[in-house]
Amino acid sequence: MIADKVLNKIHCRSFLSIKRLLVVILVCGSISLAEAQQITSPNKNFSLTFSLKENGVPFYELTFKNKPVIKSSKLGLATRQGGSFLDGFTVTDVKTTSIDESWDPVLGEQKTIRNHYQELLVTLTQQAQQGRFMRIRFRLFDDGLGFRYEFPMQKGLSYFIVKDEVTEFNLAGNHKIFWIPGDYDTNEYPYTTSTIAEIPSLQKKATVPITAQQPIKSPSVQTPCMMKSADGLYINIHEAALINYPAMDLEVDAATLKMKTHLVPDAVGNLAYMQTNAQTPWRTIVVSDKATDILASRLILNLNEPTKYKDVSWIKPVKYMGVWWEYFVAGKSNWAYSTVNNVKLTDNFAAFPPSGHHGATNENVKEYIDFASANGFDAVLVEGWNVGWEDWIGNWKEEVFDFVTPYPDFDVKMLREYAASKGIKIIMHHETSAAATNYERRLDRAFQFMVDNGYNAVKTGYVGDIIPRGEHHDGQWMVNHYIHVADRAADYKIMVNSHEAVRPTGLNRTYPNWIAQESARGTEFEAMAGLAPEHGTILPFTRLMGGPMDYTPGIFQTDLSYYGTGSKQRVNTTLVKQLAYYVTMYSPLQMAADMPENYARFPDAFQFIKDVAVDWDDTYVLEAEPGDYITIARKAKGKQEWYVGGITDENRRTATISFSFLPKGKSYIATIYADGTDASYDKKPQSYTIRKVLVSSSSVLKQVLASSGGVAVSIKEGTSGEIKGLKKL
Ligand code: NOJ
Ligand code: CA
Repeated sequence: MIADKVLNKIHCRSFLSIKRLLVVILVCGSISLAEAQQITSPNKNFSLTFSLKENGVPFYELTFKNKPVIKSSKLGLATRQGGSFLDGFTVTDVKTTSIDESWDPVLGEQKTIRNHYQELLVTLTQQAQQGRFMRIRFRLFDDGLGFRYEFPMQKGLSYFIVKDEVTEFNLAGNHKIFWIPGDYDTNEYPYTTSTIAEIPSLQKKATVPITAQQPIKSPSVQTPCMMKSADGLYINIHEAALINYPAMDLEVDAATLKMKTHLVPDAVGNLAYMQTNAQTPWRTIVVSDKATDILASRLILNLNEPTKYKDVSWIKPVKYMGVWWEYFVAGKSNWAYSTVNNVKLTDNFAAFPPSGHHGATNENVKEYIDFASANGFDAVLVEGWNVGWEDWIGNWKEEVFDFVTPYPDFDVKMLREYAASKGIKIIMHHETSAAATNYERRLDRAFQFMVDNGYNAVKTGYVGDIIPRGEHHDGQWMVNHYIHVADRAADYKIMVNSHEAVRPTGLNRTYPNWIAQESARGTEFEAMAGLAPEHGTILPFTRLMGGPMDYTPGIFQTDLSYYGTGSKQRVNTTLVKQLAYYVTMYSPLQMAADMPENYARFPDAFQFIKDVAVDWDDTYVLEAEPGDYITIARKAKGKQEWYVGGITDENRRTATISFSFLPKGKSYIATIYADGTDASYDKKPQSYTIRKVLVSSSSVLKQVLASSGGVAVSIKEGTSGEIKGLKKL
């Protein structure tokens, strides 16, 4: 408990007029307006202390099971116009609330999510600023803390510009940290694992070249960042409900182990434009002594607003293939139709010399549709269907695409009818080349074109430097742009999968049609610089804390020299690890990213991708350690079917899968897709075995995973009579 829990009536009275004194006494009499306040989480594991220190500067502290997680850390914002929200505060109101409720996401990792927290709402008044006030709202859950600043409408405060947010995270030790460098424009960096103190010396090496990047000069990391303390605490820092505000990076002070908020600026160097009522996004700290709890946390979703969409029946999970991976690896096709490299949208593209390597042709798209349809997929993504790809990248060009004019060899009407006849939707592709202005101008026509032609999902992309020039991918202007696109898409009943957008912050609760995002280094990099074997064991603890990822798994032909293009690159996993990703890498939109001809070579392994669900009733995180391994089981939405995925980094390991998540007293048939005994990601990635066994809720599978390998299991109800020779596990 707080020692100095003293009534602060003097402060309380002094800023209010005599006329309201009676009310004040009532309020102050019922609530202790101490300069320090404390709440505990419903399970009592967490304790949050808020206090005002010297000069009325606000601070907070967080403990977990009596261990310090965040030591006394400063709060506040500096504004352009002076009169910052930094100091000179007194506590003039305090409210506590507890909430315990449940809600059902439209699509998700579980059918029902519990929202259970203790809230502390502190009103902080600056008497020297004519009684101007802000509020800080803390919500303490059983899995961590969220807090945000709120600026209610009030006399003398309508508009202000944020020039700095000073929110600190003063860490209690030199933790191990999984991080990517702070940057205003990209989150596609590989992860670095180090201690906090090592970050400054590793920053340069970690900042690998990426198309369109603006690294922060001082030592810094992006969120979500994942930490582990020497005494076994897992700590994840991120944000929730990033709306009308820039994304948060964290400056790192290696000497004091303090992190400080660094907001992404706009073109003229301002950070955020606020109009009361205003609020910042939530700053989130998810903590546990079990790594599995971090992956099971729904704190970030809980801090987002429920959706305002009245009808969500059109928002559906999607399993898709795409005219896509062949552009990266096969050397046979491309997005562009012709070889001209200076084009305008008004040009007659049919008059240009065809390159002969255009991928989005009627014939090729039909082949993908045939294969996807024959194998039970929902959709086929087609990239490179529209004019403008000849000079789309690197020119900071505004009028780069119009999103409605197909290339001469892509027949919109014919393909629409063909796809419909096969029960397949074509997924629209809107690469914007980061010209967000151009996209916004054309957005309604682009969406109407989709509706007219039977498309209900779009993959957007923002490769390059942003237009409006000087803006950044993660600044307030673009944050609002991505939300505008998702919200406007909903008017047309269109689902959005954004690439190169700001990292997600749980907004898929509010905008459930924003079905997935890339916003991290995904499979495409396997064809370029490659991904480390541990990459897939880190992403769920970092990028996926904010929401589903369009990681695009499912690559069966992992040795890319196979294509004879001269590439010696490989996808750094076994084939089975690619299967396991469908379970470990959550998304209600999942791609089978390899080409049909590769799936046709391994039909028995492909069966798992055909079967696996993408929307879930329940999720069981069985084993996890960031950077090392993850094993997750999930129950398919509305079905008596379960899927398990286990992955490991470069080290072979034995996964322990307890089937205790299955209902008791019944028998089930488990199909186990495992790495072959001689499998490894770099020598024998395509060695695998498939076996069927009988399991029950008391079964336990011990399964060896190869180096950068995996295990995938599908489970259905069944008895020994169904398959000859079927044995118990
Ligand atoms: C980058 C995206 O991540 C990738 O999926 C896409 O194919 C290219 N941009 C072209 O839009
Ligand atoms: Ca990308």
